[in-house]
Amino acid sequence: LLYPKKISKSKLLESSFGGGEGYRSLFVLSGEDLSLPFGELRALVETYSAGEACSLISPRVAVSSLGEESKIQRISERSSYCRFGGSLIASGSSFETLVGKLPEFAFGERSTATFAIRSETLSRERCGDLGALTKARTKLKVSLDRPDLVFQVEKVKGGYFLGLSRTGAKQFSWKERRPRARSFFLPSAIYPKLARALVNMSRVREGERFLDPFCGTGSLLIESCLMGIPSYGFEIKRWVARGASLNMKKYGSAEHGILRCDSTGPLPVSRIDGVATDVPYGRASSTKGKETKSIIREFLQSLADSVPSRKKDGRRKYCVIMYPSMTELVCDPNSFRLEETHYIYVHRNLTRAISVLSMN
Ligand SMILES: C[S@@+](CC[C@H](N)C(=O)[O-])C[C@H]1O[C@@H](n2cnc3c(N)ncnc32)[C@H](O)[C@@H]1O
Repeated sequence: LLYPKKISKSKLLESSFGGGEGYRSLFVLSGEDLSLPFGELRALVETYSAGEACSLISPRVAVSSLGEESKIQRISERSSYCRFGGSLIASGSSFETLVGKLPEFAFGERSTATFAIRSETLSRERCGDLGALTKARTKLKVSLDRPDLVFQVEKVKGGYFLGLSRTGAKQFSWKERRPRARSFFLPSAIYPKLARALVNMSRVREGERFLDPFCGTGSLLIESCLMGIPSYGFEIKRWVARGASLNMKKYGSAEHGILRCDSTGPLPVSRIDGVATDVPYGRASSTKGKETKSIIREFLQSLADSVPSRKKDGRRKYCVIMYPSMTELVCDPNSFRLEETHYIYVHRNLTRAISVLSMN
């Protein structure tokens, strides 16, 4: 496991509280997996603003030097594992310091605005106290269901962080897109939350072209299309490709196409800006007699042969591969560099590995 670059927590807290490093946004991650949520966040920060710092302060709390509100908002909307994304407006080593600062920020808002205080690390009572104080010192009204402003307070070892989002609370609607709710279903279909994280880690933006070369029922393509990314899928079985097209009819708001094709051979496209895929491994999805290791190696070779390694603006392209962790990932080091690998335990016989490769 190549865990995100090791950081000294005490140093980071010191610099964040002192403002020395210039962290300007706060993100709160869901707590279900160790490394994937932060991997997705870092990828999204890089997608919209390459070169910005992004640091994990506690398993659930991350900060970034990215300060542009519209980009912070877009990252928060796109992300699967980010429960809150907003401007970092204050930090302090004591709760009282933060309490004192919060109404200051609320004063500037229009008086008809509603607000809510949220936290993943503080008790409801503490959030309630903070809400009452803010209400008393400003003209804002509390709305827990549909607030205009969300103040997010998080406690980490050694201090507190306060973030503000002006876009209200993040809405989740995974359930209506779960595999069994789609027109065409196969047991190998993956859940939208994971599918979206895979797409996000491929670092594609709106308007760039995304490819899933082993698309099955189209789980990744549905998510990429919903994010406004033109999306293409390859699938070796005609009837599965037809089923995926059927699924895309409902969700494919962006330009999309599904082609019956063998992705281990020459690829029929060259204008692709990012790839993410869940490769066939023989249990629930057919490999047509080939070993998963060979499928991955042959596909990566075809990708390197058919697709240029840089985007039009010179940024690197990425390829995200999900495969069983027992499989060895083999690729040409002249064409790809392994950036990181995340693991998800599924059951006794299956742990998934998700490797992020950049193209050289
Ligand atoms: C693990 S499944 C993908 C599942 C997909 N992520 C979903 O959520 O439905 C892999 C798919 O790759 C297809 N496949 C197998 N070999 C292929 C090849 N050489 N070229 C293209 N598709 C292939 C299989 O038919 C299968 O549908």
